[in-house]
Amino acid sequence: MLLPKHQIPDAVKLLREGKLVAFPTETVYGLGAPIFSPDLIEEIFKAKGRPHDNPLIVHISNFEQLALIAQNIPEDFYRLADAFFPGPLTVILEKKKEVPEVVSGGLSTIGVRMPKNGIALELIEGVGVPLVAPSANLSGRPSATKASHVLDDFGDKIGGVIDGGACEFGIESTVLTLSPEPRIFRPGAISRAAIEEVLGREVAIASTSCAKPPSPGMKYRHYAPKGVVRLFRSMEKLREHEREKPSISRLVLERVVEKELYSSLREGDTQGCDEILVFCDRSTLQNEALMNRLMRASQ
Ligand code: TXA
Ligand code: MG
Repeated sequence: MLLPKHQIPDAVKLLREGKLVAFPTETVYGLGAPIFSPDLIEEIFKAKGRPHDNPLIVHISNFEQLALIAQNIPEDFYRLADAFFPGPLTVILEKKKEVPEVVSGGLSTIGVRMPKNGIALELIEGVGVPLVAPSANLSGRPSATKASHVLDDFGDKIGGVIDGGACEFGIESTVLTLSPEPRIFRPGAISRAAIEEVLGREVAIASTSCAKPPSPGMKYRHYAPKGVVRLFRSMEKLREHEREKPSISRLVLERVVEKELYSSLREGDTQGCDEILVFCDRSTLQNEALMNRLMRASQ
């Protein structure tokens, strides 16, 4: 069910009745449930086909809610929150024991963020407790940046989606741990340089190639359409590839920007393309978040 944005009270009602509601954020759409409703949170994993060891991000609308869910919060968190909340940064914090196990997939931590989107904030305020929400897409598929993407993936398997139009950034939040050292688990809408400036020190990006990744999401296939995604650094090589196999149905993206990335990958599926060729120009290659998504979509 598509809910116009003036129907946020209906969305609150759906959540209270035990139905999942997808909502817009400034990054991508999230598929939400109230944090103290473990049975409904379980439905998120079922609906997405998401492995249980992949924890969910907790969305807050005010700082009082932090006291319900996190403890031993370091000073650096408040520095970052001052600079970036509300906004597309998720910080990993030590969780309180009251947070249901299903949220954190067995970890002792939770990822917390305050979305910069009026609908999301009003929805959380309406429910009165933080909402846990992964991106509102079937597991492994491109994230949803429009309400129609959410309906394409879930149809009437969820209570509804609030229509907030296209998401402002179009790619997910940056996920950052502070302990023992600041480290980016997932590059995202807030750049590494912006975080380094606030913290006054260098911040590493966690490698995805270790045996036991520190952030479970790093080990799963992500962001991928049905067609094969191929990346090219040279336009000539791209054209050569097209000429070699002229009969394959394909979509060519000569320029990708964050805001359009997932829409374009989904468009490839709508058109039934066997492959999507992406030209990565210099600015794309320098964009850590965009390259992270493209590399993973192409694996
Ligand atoms: O922009 C976003 O972050 C969107 C919107 C809806 O807020 N959400 C989102 O959620 O992208 P999801 O579930 O698709 O990705 C969350 C990522 C996963 O890679 C997960 O493994 C990681 O964050 N994560 C969550 N909690 C964690 C924790 N306690 N420790 C390490 N990684 C965590
Ligand atoms: Mg996701």
